[in-house]
Amino acid sequence: MSKDRKILLSGIQPSGRPHIGNYFGAMKQFVELQKEHETFIFIADYHALTTLQNPKELKQNILNVAIDYLAIGLDPKNVTLYKQSDIPEHMELAWIFECLTTVPYLERAHAFKDAQAKRSEVNVGTFNYPLLMAADILLYDADVVPVGQDQKQHVEIARDTAEKFNRVYGETFKLPQPMILSDVSVVPGIDGEKMSKSKGNTIPLFAEDAEIEKCVMSIVTDSSGGIPKNVHEIHTLFALDGHRPTSLSDGARLDDFYAQNEGKYKILKEALIEDIKTFIRPLREKRKSIAEDKEAVLKMLKEGGLRARAKASAKMEEVREKVGVKLY
Ligand code: ADP
Ligand code: TRP
Repeated sequence: MSKDRKILLSGIQPSGRPHIGNYFGAMKQFVELQKEHETFIFIADYHALTTLQNPKELKQNILNVAIDYLAIGLDPKNVTLYKQSDIPEHMELAWIFECLTTVPYLERAHAFKDAQAKRSEVNVGTFNYPLLMAADILLYDADVVPVGQDQKQHVEIARDTAEKFNRVYGETFKLPQPMILSDVSVVPGIDGEKMSKSKGNTIPLFAEDAEIEKCVMSIVTDSSGGIPKNVHEIHTLFALDGHRPTSLSDGARLDDFYAQNEGKYKILKEALIEDIKTFIRPLREKRKSIAEDKEAVLKMLKEGGLRARAKASAKMEEVREKVGVKLY
């Protein structure tokens, strides 16, 4: 691999089926950028333990995310694909960061505040979550971290943590940059709130046709001037990067189509259904064929883990030396 390529790193939690918000907010960028960067993409399985404590389900989800990554077009020849738990150095570094970080600092994290608003007794893993994420990123000297808007603060915490470590122990970690698509920001769910696995408001990325129809028909249509905002916002995603919605006639623009069909929610939703189906069908087919060879997927994941570990353990040697625990 050439030395001058920037290092790109990101991951998603195996906490449920990925949805179009995950795809347009984060995963799509992994695919587009994999060639021009040295790329590390992983499955954040230890992070998922903060909310998922069902071993059977977790195991299945991990395998599913590995298949999803391959189905969207990540190529193990370009990308190191692995699961977090195969590299124990992530946990080791997280502990060192926990000893450098104060409680009031972490209390400011939005994700923690949201968790606390929902449950009075938040687990320690949820509180420490950003420091494990900082370890995920900093162990690999990542330059850029493509994530959705909601993860921006976590990448900033990783940056602050790198700065703090460097100040205390001397220059060790690179400062990572979040990479966020400005034209996507937050994809709304079918209830108009942020689309999220935990909220049951998603359009799954590999949904079957009937499921797509059901999801789109239940998108809430609190319209402003006859344009159903959530339907339109979701539809816009399928018209990005020159991708042409099949529902449009030649030369037509999505916004004109919505203006021409003001107030006609059924027509607009049916057009969206067609466009989502056209987009998802080939991805779903590819996913099905990859899923047939489970052993090959596991082998790929295991090999990715070995490659990632080689890099992480070299960095960790340096960290142990810096903090003063390495005697031999
Ligand atoms: P979820 O909130 O559905 O559990 P994750 O926390 O696993 O999703 O997020 C995986 C990636 O997808 C992250 O980079 C996150 O920022 C992005 N993402 C999640 N939901 C959305 C959304 N509704 N819009 C845009 N990006 C999103
Ligand atoms: N917190 C991220 C999410 O919920 C997942 C994640 C864990 C991650 N570690 C990371 C993303 C490191 C980017 C880099 O989506």
